[in-house]
Amino acid sequence: MSAQRSEGSGARAAVAAALERTAELPYERAWSMPSAFYTDPAILALERERLFGQEWLCVGRREEVARPGDYMALELCDEPVVVIHGLDGVLRAFANVCRHRGMPIARGKGHGKGLMCPYHHWTYDTAGRLMSTPRLGPRPDFDAGACHLPQLPLEQWQGFLFVSLASAPAPLAPRLAALESVVRPYHLELNEVRYLADEVWATNWKNLLENFMEGYHLSALHHETLHKVNPTRLCRHLPPGEAYFGYFAGFNPELPRVQKGHPDLTDQQRDDCVMFAVPPGFAVGCAADYSSFMCIQPESVDRVRMKLGLIFYGSEWPPESVTRAVELYQQTMAEDKTILVGLAQGLRSRHYERGPLAGAALEGPVWDFYRYLNRTLGPGLR
Ligand code: FES
Ligand SMILES: [Fe+2]
Repeated sequence: MSAQRSEGSGARAAVAAALERTAELPYERAWSMPSAFYTDPAILALERERLFGQEWLCVGRREEVARPGDYMALELCDEPVVVIHGLDGVLRAFANVCRHRGMPIARGKGHGKGLMCPYHHWTYDTAGRLMSTPRLGPRPDFDAGACHLPQLPLEQWQGFLFVSLASAPAPLAPRLAALESVVRPYHLELNEVRYLADEVWATNWKNLLENFMEGYHLSALHHETLHKVNPTRLCRHLPPGEAYFGYFAGFNPELPRVQKGHPDLTDQQRDDCVMFAVPPGFAVGCAADYSSFMCIQPESVDRVRMKLGLIFYGSEWPPESVTRAVELYQQTMAEDKTILVGLAQGLRSRHYERGPLAGAALEGPVWDFYRYLNRTLGPGLR
């Protein structure tokens, strides 16, 4: 047992050292991480505590709770959460935990004047206040008028909803100001969600994010799909910020330029897909006509839960065009899934060794991600 423990702490020390070096090594000397980075449950526990328990986590789109009275229930790091569009027009997030005996109140998505707990039918209004406690009778030791669901911080950014499990997280938008200047012309807030899926993949959450954020594999793995649209040779690095990183995936100039999209867009912007991540768990492929997003949460070191979506600019989209976009997306995601499941197996091999990364334009965002993890997790590993 103690031998196992020391082996684990030795592996963690190697991860800490590898992360620490990311601060000083340039992209041309970047390397992949030791396997414990992906396989050690102690590192996952630290990620859940320091990242998923503290940072802003995207939970979906504003259109999902478009009307006053709309709500959606979800889980963040095993915490039941409900997002409600209040009858007063304000969007709020609450702990989805009844103040009676703890039952999660809302399930899935719905619409109403409030929420009713399925267990004993206590009710709450859309501002989270306890409204009725059937048959409880007068209780001098319980002030029902002061009882409400615990509220969680919620921010909206470009039409996406972010919730934090921390009580007073630093506001998100100022940390994304430089990224916002890049994506603003695409007006993601004017997009509408047309496709959503909840999936669980047998891979590590960091492998999933890294895969989405590097263009090196586009022409190789996705040769029959994305390569024709966004070939690897057209990838460019996006200089990272404190709370984001990414790259530009250029559209193949042999294809007609996308005409749909906001009039603010320049030709260069129409010719680019901005691939960006807001770690720990949010990633977007932002383009003029339609964009994809994913909200990632780890379930274990080799299981990741995600909400996937496609959002479309404007409402004039024939159903067959939407279907075509969804099919291409599903096909490429299936290609990614096969690799990522295999990767989880390879990383457990005793023969795995670290390998060199392919420069800023191709795998720079992976290095940026490691640097982010060095800043946020590094001190907890050392
Ligand atoms: S647990 Fe909700 S009403 Fe009893
Ligand atoms: Fe991919």
